[in-house]
Amino acid sequence: MIAQRPPMGWNSWNTFGDKINDSLIREMADLMAEKGYRDAGYEYLVIDDCWSLRERDAEGRLVPDPQKFPHGMKDLADYVHSKGLKFGMYSCAGVMTCAGYPSSYDHEFVDAETFASWGVDFLKYDFCHFPETGDCRTRYQTMSMALKSTGRDILFSACNWGQHEPWYWMRSVGAHMYRSTGDIMDNYISFTDIFKSQLNNLGMSANGCFNDMDMLTVGMGGKGNVGLGKVCTYEEYRMQFALWCLAGVPLMMGADLRNLDPRYLALMQNRDLIRIDQDEECRPPYLIRKGNITASNPNPKEGEYPWREIKDASFTFFRHLSHGEFALAYVNMSDAESRIHCELVDLGLPVSSGMALEIRDVFTGEQLGKKADYFNPVVPGHDMKLYLCRLTKARE
Ligand code: GAL
Repeated sequence: MIAQRPPMGWNSWNTFGDKINDSLIREMADLMAEKGYRDAGYEYLVIDDCWSLRERDAEGRLVPDPQKFPHGMKDLADYVHSKGLKFGMYSCAGVMTCAGYPSSYDHEFVDAETFASWGVDFLKYDFCHFPETGDCRTRYQTMSMALKSTGRDILFSACNWGQHEPWYWMRSVGAHMYRSTGDIMDNYISFTDIFKSQLNNLGMSANGCFNDMDMLTVGMGGKGNVGLGKVCTYEEYRMQFALWCLAGVPLMMGADLRNLDPRYLALMQNRDLIRIDQDEECRPPYLIRKGNITASNPNPKEGEYPWREIKDASFTFFRHLSHGEFALAYVNMSDAESRIHCELVDLGLPVSSGMALEIRDVFTGEQLGKKADYFNPVVPGHDMKLYLCRLTKARE
């Protein structure tokens, strides 16, 4: 079965946009194999938009741009496969891709056949230039059927930016992941907005079809194709990665792996985080509480208080993992440090149960011992805490 767990890989769009070519993709394949990404689980290497010529050939087939891909796609796919990776490509449900290249509306079967003949294992399928008269659901269904008709196992990554509430129907048309939001930008506001927009859809994701909150920008540092606004700090990128793992969604890296800061390599290969993302039960996190944060207001203007209230800025989550483990997260989306409260009764452990949680900090590895009754860590602004827990008796 395809996509038993949230798919993991690398996609060219966030950093390279239209500046893609054969040697770049081979270099990424080498790095994914040599630098531990493949062994950590990142298996799909995906070329996004801008790989083809502007016209189909005489037989109506898509043609790779010979300047960018002089050896053709089959040769490149063979190389990617030789590194123990899977090969992904991109097309679109409309009449042109977002960047204006030919796409698959009314060419679904011939294009699926072409992709299969090249050895493609993953198709990202976008939604630009979709005819007003077209029916979105049917067209995704058509491409899904076209991919199946090839007889090749091809992961169908449907990208329609959350239009037409895809969380309700993408699983039913055979998609293996569906983009649920607009494009991520490489800044803090963008990824926190994306995450918050999906709070009600985290459960619309499980084995075989996952909510896709878009490719990661972790480690991009403002460089590349989606840099906009303030560059993220290490803690902000860590929050992005940890939230995606907590949500159990696809992990498609977007940074330039040729010069990624080793801290981000370590973060995106963190075994505990990947284990949480890839947990076999694929359960969504349980939102314990969304709360406000009270922060000081040191120089109040007239009519203001010496404190300020920041709305909907703290989030506490609890996620059931397999084999008796749980993840517990405290997220501070405000700019002010805050103690975030969690009474264990709110996650189903009243004091009278006599039970406690044995807690380990995922980011530091520190064992924090047993927590019963409550656990209220201090979380800096724009940061989060993530713990792995097990149930234990409060007194033993
Ligand atoms: C957007 C899509 C992006 C990227 C881009 C390519 O519609 O959301 O992820 O694929 O098109 O033009």
